[in-house]
Amino acid sequence: MLLKNAEILFNKPVSPELFHMGLRCPDVADKVQPGQFLMVRIQDRFDPLLRRPFAVHRLFPNDAPGSFEMLYKVVGRGTQLLTTMQGGDSVNLLGPLGRGFRLPKEKGFVLMVAGGIGIAPLPYLAETLAASGYKGPFVLWFGGKTSADLVCVKHFEDLGFAVHLVTEDGSQGKQGLVTGHLEQWLTQQDELPKVMYSCGPYLMQRSVADMAARLGISSQLSMEALMACGVGACLSCSLRCRPPKGARDPHYANVCQDGPVFEGEEIVWD
Ligand SMILES: Cc1cc2nc3c(=O)[nH]c(=O)nc-3n(C[C@H](O)[C@H](O)[C@H](O)COP(=O)(O)OP(=O)(O)OC[C@H]3O[C@@H](n4cnc5c(N)ncnc54)[C@H](O)[C@@H]3O)c2cc1C
Ligand code: FES
Repeated sequence: MLLKNAEILFNKPVSPELFHMGLRCPDVADKVQPGQFLMVRIQDRFDPLLRRPFAVHRLFPNDAPGSFEMLYKVVGRGTQLLTTMQGGDSVNLLGPLGRGFRLPKEKGFVLMVAGGIGIAPLPYLAETLAASGYKGPFVLWFGGKTSADLVCVKHFEDLGFAVHLVTEDGSQGKQGLVTGHLEQWLTQQDELPKVMYSCGPYLMQRSVADMAARLGISSQLSMEALMACGVGACLSCSLRCRPPKGARDPHYANVCQDGPVFEGEEIVWD
């Protein structure tokens, strides 16, 4: 785990609520694995007091060595302040943190599922699979409330992904919830994926885990939780999980240390 300043290379809107921020920090870029996250200190003051957690979205945007990109959604004070930062400013990073995505044991069909800002950690995973000799087929199912949520699609297509889009208001792709359309589509496939990777809202994650279990597919889900410390000290991020082998009582994992990526069958859903 590193504590490093990173120089902001760019910070630009990609939709009304979403921004891409490029950062240069070679030590972090060298170490970070897909699905791991960084605790970002936005200002060198006590406001906001707490660091905010963000995934690494892509490595080497614009081919800049030692750099990486975050995709963030503006939701509150911290992310609003992030939008005011410019190239040449800096942020302080703690990380890389947590347990990221594991690459599939077998090569073959890989499915990714994203809901809204849940797309954030998946391009780096997709790039890593492509660079590690996985040949696919690769499929992404991506759902949002409106078409403004459906960013980065071309990046997946360029990596050889077949992309299926779903919006709740029908402004792009199929209308409805991504999990409903995905399940129908899966039942029509001759071959099932070896693994489903997913990131998105809690209810979507729960549906993905249920679907994967019903179909006998292994699933890896990147879970969100409120995080104050990011390093296992405050217990603000606990997630109810199945007891370890031999134990009977449910067990509470820390999303920041034991996750954020969990196997679907590890989680006890509320
Ligand atoms: C492992 C992990 C990775 C994440 N990666 C991304 C990403 O790549 N892009 C992105 O846009 N968002 C990501 N998030 C969510 C992001 O951290 C929150 O949206 C952000 O902290 C909100 O900060 P704020 O000050 O704007 O909002 P406020 O609501 O003002 O935040 C108040 C407090 O609540 C915490 N908080 C609020 N919402 C969340 C949340 N959903 N998850 C965790 N803490 C929260 C903040 O850290 C802060 O301490 C991630 C969350 C986790 C847990
Ligand atoms: S965020 Fe403090 S224990 Fe996980």
